Amino acid sequence: MKPDSETDFRLTMPAKKFFFSVLIVALFAIPPAFGDGAAILEYGDRFHPQIGQGGMVVSQEQLASRVGADILARGGNAVDAAVATGFALAVTLPQAGNLGGGGFMLIHLGEENKNIAIDYREMAPATAHADLFVNAAGKVDTQLSRFSALSSGVPGTVAGLVHAQKKYGVLPLSEVMAPAIALAKKGFPVSYPLAWSLEESQARLKKHSASTRYFYNSDGSVFKPGQIWRQPDLAATLKRIARSNGRDFYEGTTATMIVEEMAVGAGAITLEDLKNYQVIEREPVVGTYRDHQIISMPPPSSGGIHLLQMLNILEGWDLAALGHNSSDYIHRLVEAMRRAYADRSEYLGDPDFVAVPAQKLMDKVYGAELRAHISLSQATPSTEVLPGLGAHEESPQTTHYSVWDKDGNVVSNTYTLNFSYGNGIAVTGAGFLLNNEMDDFSAKAGVPNAYGLVGNAANAIAPGKRPLSSMTPVIVLKEGSPVLVTGSPGGSRIITSVLQMVLNVVDFDMNIAEATAAPRIHHQWLPDVLYVEKDIGVDTRKRLQNMGHKLETSAWSMGKTQSITRENHLFMGVSDYRWPGGSAESAD
Ligand code: DON
Repeated sequence: MKPDSETDFRLTMPAKKFFFSVLIVALFAIPPAFGDGAAILEYGDRFHPQIGQGGMVVSQEQLASRVGADILARGGNAVDAAVATGFALAVTLPQAGNLGGGGFMLIHLGEENKNIAIDYREMAPATAHADLFVNAAGKVDTQLSRFSALSSGVPGTVAGLVHAQKKYGVLPLSEVMAPAIALAKKGFPVSYPLAWSLEESQARLKKHSASTRYFYNSDGSVFKPGQIWRQPDLAATLKRIARSNGRDFYEGTTATMIVEEMAVGAGAITLEDLKNYQVIEREPVVGTYRDHQIISMPPPSSGGIHLLQMLNILEGWDLAALGHNSSDYIHRLVEAMRRAYADRSEYLGDPDFVAVPAQKLMDKVYGAELRAHISLSQATPSTEVLPGLGAHEESPQTTHYSVWDKDGNVVSNTYTLNFSYGNGIAVTGAGFLLNNEMDDFSAKAGVPNAYGLVGNAANAIAPGKRPLSSMTPVIVLKEGSPVLVTGSPGGSRIITSVLQMVLNVVDFDMNIAEATAAPRIHHQWLPDVLYVEKDIGVDTRKRLQNMGHKLETSAWSMGKTQSITRENHLFMGVSDYRWPGGSAESAD
């Protein structure tokens, strides 16, 4: 018997006439955006993005994406929308959206063709020192570095978002923050992923009375999906921030509340530390890959430098000819990753404290040298890969969102509390959680942090220093115009997830949905393990093992990219399929 679809599709003569007249009308009615002949949609693709014309916002939480898209629709630019989304995520995605953390915002201003990198990473308090987390036995106390009040760096998010909005936005800050305040005050229905996440995190959050009060019902039960969740203390904090242009967080009522919370848990942040917090505009990292320009974040992020370093190594091979995710392709990726992460461990840290050899690491000649030493048939054991520059002269939650407006302004923003819900400590009276970013420092040379990353003196703790990050917001341009904006959470896997997004779009010409859905792999030098997502096939695994790679199927999927591309004036956005709840929202 024929399937229904086949029989249903046989059209009668009048229906045929109707069908063709509709087709002809539709062809003439297609907006000019479709008229350039390029294929926007491919019948052969299995995954497709959201499409829109008026600008787009992609984040890990639907309500927050919608807040940003509405700001675009009201005449805000990409920076207004990004800041509105950032504050909204602090309400609707408490595990990663934040006021008590820090991050990086990369901006491309379309008209001026200018790129800006805003560093609002946390800073170590003034009393911090290199051995802060080393106990009497000489061991790193991970309880202290990850779960105590001492694990919090001075938060930068509020200063960073307000700075960006005031300098590059076009709407009043009060208008940009109004949706977040309304979400906190009036409440919103708890989504399935949020209810699940709060249930999973009970053990950590319920250790602290304010966190218990803020994130669970008054009888201690977990919110039910659909239940309306109101956060009056957070709404009041957001209002104070909006009214004071952020000053209240660093010098006012909120600052006092943070310091009082520090007293409860023997934390280190003082009023002086808060007052001294600085947002820094840095020169973005800029490089090329084939005929594209790559813009990303400089130190204290390691992301931009190592993304370019890996791209430089890979540029010498015709990756497309190897076939996507073939063993020969994955082998080359792994060897590039291994070498970049080895260098990361040695040379990267806060550039205001250590001299980072950024230009050398991103030099195409250095990339070619590294490539020349890669065997195409055998894995190089990580023990044989040392940080490659020789003696150096001197020395599980984050979230990303992407915004693109109709005028060609683009924002790529990654911010974090470090772990999901940071250190689990909410500020009593203020309604938000604190970060545990101090664990991103190298607490002791060679001792891995929570992501298995090792470091040394370059990333040692010092007062006022910013911990090294892997967050890699990126904007890709072609002939001066943006073609891709992306970024991801995922700790040490951020840089490699973003790398694979760039390769999928540039080398394999995938649409952004296909690029997102494609299985990912990760290697970070130490441990010497090639982590693969479960969909990497058995034959490929066998070939890689025969080359000497030690494979492990990752228990966690890799990254949660939030990306937009633009083609023929259309925006195409995808929130990673690796977690539910995100969305690409169009301003149309
Ligand atoms: O800045 C960093 O590199 C880390 N604190 C990021 C943490 C992270 O991505 C956790 N997310 N899943």
